[in-house]
Amino acid sequence: MRVLAIETSCDETSAAIVTSDRQILSNVVVSQIDEHTPFGGVVPEIASRAHIRYIDSVIKESLNKAKCSIQDIDAVAVTSGPGLIGGVIVGLMAAKGIAAATNKPLIAVNHLEGHALTVRLTDDVPFPFLLLLVSGGHCQILIVHGVGNYTRLGTTLDDALGEAFDKTAKMLGLGYPGGPQVEKRAKNGDPNRFPLPLPLCNKVNCDFSFSGLKTAVLHTIESCRTAPGVDPKLTSQDINDICASFQQTCAKVLNNRLTHAISSFKEQAPTGTNLVIAGGVAANKYLRKTIDELGKEHGLDVIAPPLNLCTDNAAMIAWAGIERLIAGEVSPLDCTARARWPLTDMTPPDSG
Ligand code: KG4
Ligand code: ZN
Repeated sequence: MRVLAIETSCDETSAAIVTSDRQILSNVVVSQIDEHTPFGGVVPEIASRAHIRYIDSVIKESLNKAKCSIQDIDAVAVTSGPGLIGGVIVGLMAAKGIAAATNKPLIAVNHLEGHALTVRLTDDVPFPFLLLLVSGGHCQILIVHGVGNYTRLGTTLDDALGEAFDKTAKMLGLGYPGGPQVEKRAKNGDPNRFPLPLPLCNKVNCDFSFSGLKTAVLHTIESCRTAPGVDPKLTSQDINDICASFQQTCAKVLNNRLTHAISSFKEQAPTGTNLVIAGGVAANKYLRKTIDELGKEHGLDVIAPPLNLCTDNAAMIAWAGIERLIAGEVSPLDCTARARWPLTDMTPPDSG
């Protein structure tokens, strides 16, 4: 089976062709970074308009790269939520149009399920597995029992981890998206120079909170600026040290929360042997390494998708669509777009 997939839930316009025997024939991703950089973050209205501008050419390019015509496609998968609703609607309408015109089945996919199942495309990881899902909009730990079958062990009470990276970068004037910039600067920084709080780490659960950490970063920046005899501007070394301290703190928080999650996972899903990291923040090599060490200590294999499949892309939507199509699911052509759609509510989207 060959599936054309479309992803437009945030600031990447993407289309991919993936086969049910795990070949990614194409995965075209057009980033809107240039459009959003002047504003220091994603502007939903600008994102929707950019998706409209790019969508046709991105779909055409995905077909060309895969050397396919639309007739060679067996189904159309599309992100129908959660995400910025204007963008989701652009992708969903394009997918519905193609499905209606070609009489191919449509499959509406939850964006988070796309991230969650990507390792089954790249590494054929069996169910059940423990999942750390860390992106710009989400920070959750789940047990993945099967397609559409998730138990959430913990979530963030405020900001997502990617958001905390983005806000830290913004406060330091590092540009958008912040995660990769913070990781780069942290490489030349002293992670122990600035002690930062470890939110919720005294609680025996798997929840997260990053807003206090963000405020602590702000206070740290201000303390550097007002140090006696120091230029009011941060030095490059100050920036590196703040990034390294922040990133190390995030690693400690993740490891603390995951330690609790691993015990629950071993109790609730004793046959599972894999800890999967997914979502844009999973592209961070430092965090991947620290989680890898934690997994080893607890006898779990830690698996993360290749870097280009961690951040938003349509290949992951194609794969989640394939898993659902194989299970016999097809979506109605009047299915709705959803701004919010938790993984723990995996009923298919309602008809319009
Ligand atoms: O999954 P994703 O592409 O989009 C959402 O669904 O949110 O994740 C984007 C997030 C952004 O917050 C970005 O700063 C973060 O992932 N990110 C990183 C890295 N690369 C992307 N965070 C930390 N380190 C990275 N290397
Ligand atoms: Zn995402």
